[in-house]
Amino acid sequence: MWQQKWVIGNWKMNGSNAANRTLLQGLFQPVNAAAAQVYCGIAAPNVYLAGIKEFAANTALAVGAEDVSQFAVNGAFTGEVSAQMLADVGAQFVLVGHSERRQYFQEDNTILLEKMQNSIAAGLLPILCVGETLAEREAGQEEQVVAAQLSLLAEADLSEVAVAYEPVWAIGTGKVPVTEQIAAMHELIYRQILSLCGKDVKIRVLYGGSVNAGNAAEILAVSHVDGALVGGASLQADSFAAIIQAAYAPA
Ligand code: 13P
Repeated sequence: MWQQKWVIGNWKMNGSNAANRTLLQGLFQPVNAAAAQVYCGIAAPNVYLAGIKEFAANTALAVGAEDVSQFAVNGAFTGEVSAQMLADVGAQFVLVGHSERRQYFQEDNTILLEKMQNSIAAGLLPILCVGETLAEREAGQEEQVVAAQLSLLAEADLSEVAVAYEPVWAIGTGKVPVTEQIAAMHELIYRQILSLCGKDVKIRVLYGGSVNAGNAAEILAVSHVDGALVGGASLQADSFAAIIQAAYAPA
């Protein structure tokens, strides 16, 4: 999996039992067909994880969560869902620090490091999401911002690191950085991970932000882009399947 391209869908706060089944039914064939070359997964709302896991049994689709509690040990934390619980219902990975979590829930590096550590302790693979806002890019601060977001990796003692670079201004907007901007940031992220975690670390750096069936092949061909984290286009089987296909059989 650390040699493959990854295509991960992030459903965000979308879905229903009925809609999920229809969507998944349309994904199993393209996911299984790509399995040798592409690691495919979806991050779904917690309430659906166990059902999705059961429905996707015997397929190559990986299942993950969109967030995890910062609290390490189960106990009196009403409303929280621990890393252990996510692993217990079959989650394999978890998004950590998505920009929507940073924006609406004030998640900072201290909290995110706890989330990373809890995930790893429970056997979940954390995918750390980073990215600058439009104001930060316009101020020429994007490299500084992303480097600061990555700095928590130094504390985590990792041998495998998955990061998703998602410029906030590209999420859900239809605006995508030009390939040179993506390449420059992904190279910076690679360098930063190697310097923080050592040269033997396994690395996947995904791009996220307005990836769709039309632009996926071009984005996935950019150097140091190891996959895609897909929001809106992961909610339709045909567009998500086309992105999966672009990851191994570019048009
Ligand atoms: P969109 O693909 O809808 O822009 O969302 C990207 C994202 O936030 C994935 O985590």
